[in-house]
Amino acid sequence: MSYQDYSCQICSQQEIAPNIIACCLENAHLAKNAKPGQFLHIQCGDPASMPLRRPISICDVNGDELTIIYEVKGRGTKALREQTGKVQVLGPLGNGFLVDNSLYKRPAVIGGGIGTYPLYLLTKQLTNASVYLGFRNQSVVTLEQEFCQVAEKVTITTDDGSYGVSGFAITQLEEDHKKEVFDIVYACGPKPMLRAVQAFAEKTGVPCQLSLEERMGCGIGACLTCNCETHEEGSAHYKHVCKNGPVFWSQEVVL
Ligand SMILES: Cc1cc2nc3c(=O)[nH]c(=O)nc-3n(C[C@H](O)[C@H](O)[C@H](O)COP(=O)(O)OP(=O)(O)OC[C@H]3O[C@@H](n4cnc5c(N)ncnc54)[C@H](O)[C@@H]3O)c2cc1C
Ligand code: FES
Repeated sequence: MSYQDYSCQICSQQEIAPNIIACCLENAHLAKNAKPGQFLHIQCGDPASMPLRRPISICDVNGDELTIIYEVKGRGTKALREQTGKVQVLGPLGNGFLVDNSLYKRPAVIGGGIGTYPLYLLTKQLTNASVYLGFRNQSVVTLEQEFCQVAEKVTITTDDGSYGVSGFAITQLEEDHKKEVFDIVYACGPKPMLRAVQAFAEKTGVPCQLSLEERMGCGIGACLTCNCETHEEGSAHYKHVCKNGPVFWSQEVVL
């Protein structure tokens, strides 16, 4: 498979919460081909001083424009925050979520922190989704209104109880499952949340897709940076999160 480097116009960068930036990129090819759960591998700053790209999920697509939302963390995302004009992007990369509205009629979507962003495009494409979004505290609660417009129901939780329901998003999902019985669960977020969702899927038998996050080098399956352990015929195997994922069926991966 060949991968093409696309030049994207940065249309806007807006701080939507402290250190959380919504960035709009224009590229007709990327926008046309983007699927929920896929990511872009972005050249942040000068390639001579920062050759490694940074993976950021596709949050939304509108016409020829894509939105990504990223947290400013280290060198790469700080450089991206300062960037204007054009940016080089590989993508759309990876395998996204399976969307099948005729097979799955009661989907639940659960995300935590920056893991909530790729779930927006997914929720837009699902019918009848119940969405559970977990955040540290009120200051980083983002996209609530946007999710409310495309989901059947949205539940926000915060770890410290400063907004929405106090506690973890998975607790709310488990409670609602007793009444509504979901037929698929999609998740993206920190590892402890993914482990809890995986345990829920194992216990209930509900099919479940998890989007994993690993440090990445190439983003296209050519190095060994992003390995994750998977079950195959009972023995341990490793797969590339960038190429075989980032979305996996929950029973496939060891977290
Ligand atoms: C598939 C995928 C999708 C992602 N989507 C988003 C998103 O939508 N929004 C968002 O805010 N963040 C997302 N991340 C995390 C984001 O890639 C990291 O926060 C970012 O690479 C940090 O780079 P930095 O240079 O600012 O930080 P540093 O800590 O300075 O990064 C140093 C190096 O580590 C790598 N790295 C550091 N943290 C991570 C990480 N968590 N995952 C992968 N590589 C990392 C960087 O690529 C770089 O090579 C995603 C990660 C993956 C793997
Ligand atoms: S990042 Fe190189 S193989 Fe996945």
